[in-house]
Amino acid sequence: MSSILSNVLPAPEDPVLSVIFACRDDPCPVKLNLSVGAYQTEEGKPLVLEVVRKAEQQLANDLHAVKENRVVTIQCLSGTGSLRVGAEFLAKHHQQRVIFVPNPTWGNHPFIFTLAGLSVEYFRYYDPHTRGLDFEGMLEDLGAAPSGALVVLQACAHNPTGIDPTLEQWEQIRQIVRSKGLLPFFDNAYQGFASGNLDSDAQSVRMFVADGGECLIAQSFAKNMGLYGERIGALTIVCTSEDVARKVKSQLLLVVRPMYLSPPIHGASIVTTILKNSDMYKDWTIELKGMADRIISMRQQLYEAIQARGTPGDWSHIIKQIGMFYFTGLNEKQVRMMAKEYHIYMTYDGRISMAGLSSKTVPQLADAIHAAVTRIP
Ligand SMILES: Cc1ncc(COP(=O)(O)O)c(C=O)c1O
Repeated sequence: MSSILSNVLPAPEDPVLSVIFACRDDPCPVKLNLSVGAYQTEEGKPLVLEVVRKAEQQLANDLHAVKENRVVTIQCLSGTGSLRVGAEFLAKHHQQRVIFVPNPTWGNHPFIFTLAGLSVEYFRYYDPHTRGLDFEGMLEDLGAAPSGALVVLQACAHNPTGIDPTLEQWEQIRQIVRSKGLLPFFDNAYQGFASGNLDSDAQSVRMFVADGGECLIAQSFAKNMGLYGERIGALTIVCTSEDVARKVKSQLLLVVRPMYLSPPIHGASIVTTILKNSDMYKDWTIELKGMADRIISMRQQLYEAIQARGTPGDWSHIIKQIGMFYFTGLNEKQVRMMAKEYHIYMTYDGRISMAGLSSKTVPQLADAIHAAVTRIP
């Protein structure tokens, strides 16, 4: 039989590989291979970094929950619908009706949970003096919560403060949540917007999944896929056994049936296509990073513009905060003045969506903030 490949010539010897092979074939017991640029320990062994081992363990634990069939996911109407379905389910099947949310939190949280029949309470989160996390207050309040209480934790890029716990702080939060027997309900509306990386932004949730305990996760694809109008999201409940998961799933279907029976399919098909295709998934992560980076650059530009105007006060929180929102610390009077005189609109708690800002509009905002701070106490 004729061969169309018979004309292929042998490749020239690879100088790196030939050294490796020569060393491999050298029978001398004291041979020393100094040709490969891979880190080795004093014992001449390759090193697996501790942090890599931990990350691997975490991923394995995530998969454990899925492999063990104790994860239930149900498509819902974006993040809001996922929170609502989770809340309805909990109000019906969980003995403890108290749900703790951060103070402050997304304005819709209290409405969603109250209407579902839960009783909303707050845990300390934001410290207006430091414009940072009131971590001690948060731990104290969670520590004093009644056993079985529900706790809403925003997975990343906290709305409205733009302040997230560090990984070490998340670990302490996890310990207190677990030791007090609280049930965590993650709201994951901005995955990718905190760090620009989907995996890094999922670390808080993964920590809780990895410990084998229960949690709920409301996932939105509105922002990180720009699918606002498709209302595409999912509620995931991680259970402790396959048997529990089966019962939970049957009850979730009962919650959804009288609400909207079945979810729309178009947005879900888009998300599924992206998640299942490795090239598209990669493209998504690149575009998402582009969005996150633009927001980071807006923060830097705004910070520099305010510095340049000599506006009184410390404005470093602009670049310390993360995610889509900048919690300015401006009061309602100042916010109203900025709308009236500068035509700049933000929520009355002083929250600005950095995603709505551009290099062109930064000076307008910086002027307005400067005027508000210098004219109105
Ligand atoms: C913290 C938080 N959770 C959930 C949502 C719900 O988003 P959606 O229903 O558009 O997915 C939002 C939207 O602003 C939010 O800020």
